[in-house]
Amino acid sequence: MEFKSKIKTIEWVDNYSKMVDQTVIPYEYKFVNITSGKEMFEAIRNMIVRGAPAIGIAGAHGVILYAQEFEQEGLTREEFVKKLIEKAEYMKTSRPTAVNLMWAVDKQIEVIKNSKSDIKGIIEELKANGIKLENEDIEINKKIGDYGAEVVPKGATILTHCNAGALATVGYGTALGVVRSAFAKDNTIQVFADETRPRQQGARITTFELAMDGIPVTLITDGMCSYFMKKGMIDMVVVGADRIAANGDTANKIGTYTVAIAAKYHNIPFYIAAPLSTIDVSIKSGDEIPIEERSHEEVTHINGKPVCALKGVNVINPGFDVTPAELISGIITEKGILRPDYKKSISEAFNL
Ligand code: MRU
Repeated sequence: MEFKSKIKTIEWVDNYSKMVDQTVIPYEYKFVNITSGKEMFEAIRNMIVRGAPAIGIAGAHGVILYAQEFEQEGLTREEFVKKLIEKAEYMKTSRPTAVNLMWAVDKQIEVIKNSKSDIKGIIEELKANGIKLENEDIEINKKIGDYGAEVVPKGATILTHCNAGALATVGYGTALGVVRSAFAKDNTIQVFADETRPRQQGARITTFELAMDGIPVTLITDGMCSYFMKKGMIDMVVVGADRIAANGDTANKIGTYTVAIAAKYHNIPFYIAAPLSTIDVSIKSGDEIPIEERSHEEVTHINGKPVCALKGVNVINPGFDVTPAELISGIITEKGILRPDYKKSISEAFNL
């Protein structure tokens, strides 16, 4: 039985990108239409759209939006192509860690470079490719979900960190795709969701989307994970990824590394669920992954309201951390579950 998720996070509609506004969940579930390249850059940077695969698609849509704008400027084909590629490169800088953004924008740059068409034709090709990437994302996530479901024990309690769900992708999700596929086979499984400070993607988004799909979920704060592991209440951990190096080291939302260490200590399997597009074979290890530094306000405030922090206190706010490959039991991809030695299994998956 296939699990039907109701969520479609981002889609191309005629001449604009329609996306769920993730900044207002769970208070509101509303869509925004992004109609220019600049707006898309800001939507990615300000996390109206977030989650590695979703921002990849957003970046691909951003290139179409820029193309539509430049079509109005009366440029020659050559000028149009040059300007569009420059702006596509710029779109890649909207967030630094999730490599899916660079991957998807590069797919659009390939379309531009390979096109033999006039400006109108290039735009049509970019739209077709954007929609293809959207559809593929859902199909890939379903495959990840089905492979992952095979390693979920009966009646399992699955801990996850951040949101690697339908709302972090076009639909279905990676880590929560595993949950959805497992739930379709065994509706006695449940999820423990880490709150995920500072931006609370777990509290706000993971609980929201699982509740929307009728999957049991319990919210805990980030520091509670080892307590519940020690009590034998967690059977496995599944999280998403923003970038995986060629040796399997994995960047994901800040706090993931702590969960992985706790899981290792308690002998609990720790899985990453991610499409192959999240694997960056150009970098040898996690040391090379750029880590986004976000605003201090995210730590001192929640929803614009100050938390009880000393006014003017020193703050540091890296958005991601890197979990060393040795803590990872498996990387669940659309081509199956990659196992250690990751240098070998990753290079085989890429036919290197
Ligand atoms: O800062 P965010 O909310 O974009 O971070 C999201 C994550 O860290 C997710 O776990 C990751 O992108 C995987 S999404 C399938």
